[in-house]
Amino acid sequence: MVRNMVIGLDIGTSAVRAAEVDVKKNPPVLARFGQITLPSGAVRDGEIIDEQVVSDTLTELWGNARFKSKRVIVGVANQRIIVRQVEMPWMEASDLEAGLAFQVQDHLPIPVEDAILDFQILEEFPGEENERMMRVLLVAAQREMINSLVRTLKMAGLRPKTIDLVPFALIRTLALEHRLQPEVVDRADIDGLDELEKDPGTAEAIVDIGAGITNIVVHEQGLPRFVRILVAGGDDITEALSTVMGSSYEKAEDLKCHLTPERTSEEAMRVVEERLQTMVEEVRGSLEYYRAQTKSARLARVVLTGGGAQMPHLLDRMEASTGVRAEMGHPLSTVRLGKLGMAHDQIVAAESLISVPVGLALGDAL
Ligand SMILES: Nc1ncnc2c1ncn2[C@@H]1O[C@H](COP(=O)(O)OP(=O)(O)OP(=O)(O)O)[C@@H](O)[C@H]1O
Ligand SMILES: [Mg+2]
Repeated sequence: MVRNMVIGLDIGTSAVRAAEVDVKKNPPVLARFGQITLPSGAVRDGEIIDEQVVSDTLTELWGNARFKSKRVIVGVANQRIIVRQVEMPWMEASDLEAGLAFQVQDHLPIPVEDAILDFQILEEFPGEENERMMRVLLVAAQREMINSLVRTLKMAGLRPKTIDLVPFALIRTLALEHRLQPEVVDRADIDGLDELEKDPGTAEAIVDIGAGITNIVVHEQGLPRFVRILVAGGDDITEALSTVMGSSYEKAEDLKCHLTPERTSEEAMRVVEERLQTMVEEVRGSLEYYRAQTKSARLARVVLTGGGAQMPHLLDRMEASTGVRAEMGHPLSTVRLGKLGMAHDQIVAAESLISVPVGLALGDAL
């Protein structure tokens, strides 16, 4: 039986964040939200480095936010996770589950004994000789990374109910199926615009730019078709700024978040631009990969979220590079707000940070 209140926990590179959601309500109600910044280095590139520090921060978060339970759905997103779309002879889901390790070893770059495996059957299709085949989204997480996560939660007195992929959580909060209408970019100079008009897209990319990790997921009607977890994020820009200015990380971070020509040298501006462009190009590369996949649907839009997506003019850059309409995601349109004890402008300012914890909690809504 699903309880009403479910807590989604996001352990990010820059902060831990948790959302308590009443998943039985329609729309779901965000009842509580809390976050605490992590000291630099406790989590690096989405991986827990210092279990004690992270665990202490979680204990503090639970103390502050007065969550009703210690059971959590926790998200993971880092380089120790592999997500692949594979094709294999059709079989019952129960048979695949029973023989998963054997079935998928050839598709993985790591030994199956070192991995925790999961899968989602996407569709069935006829093979070359008309035999029944199926496409499966395969997830392999390195066992030791998961063990470290579970240890950290237990040290804080928390119980992981489920461990879920951050990219899947993003779909739950940000995929707005009703907005996937033929939306056409109104810029004549974008490659592929004609094609887009003739055959409007039915897929949507969600891009979460964090401090150390950029999550990219493309879904078709809510089904994940492509997942990429990149080691890149807003911190790359801060580091580059700190180097070029010879200033502390904190100073560079402050400058990055309040970029004005008066405060910033030309050289520093150029560095920011370059880094941003690299980031955008990496996203574009991933989307190209999706587009080259067999049976990929056309992309109708790119939705951005995460702290790193706050960089000025990112939407324009993303549109210009991908040729697809880019928008900021609005997780607050998926949930109703309970009595959060936060001022309205505080909540709006935190909007790009709640996509993940809320989406994790919504994983228990079914
Ligand atoms: N107003 C802003 N302008 C530019 N960048 C910002 C702004 N606010 C936050 N950021 C950047 O967003 C990043 C943090 O984003 P977020 O909180 O989503 O990451 P995280 O979830 O902690 O980490 P990750 O998902 O990478 O593990 C930092 O690099 C921070 O500098
Ligand atoms: Mg994050």
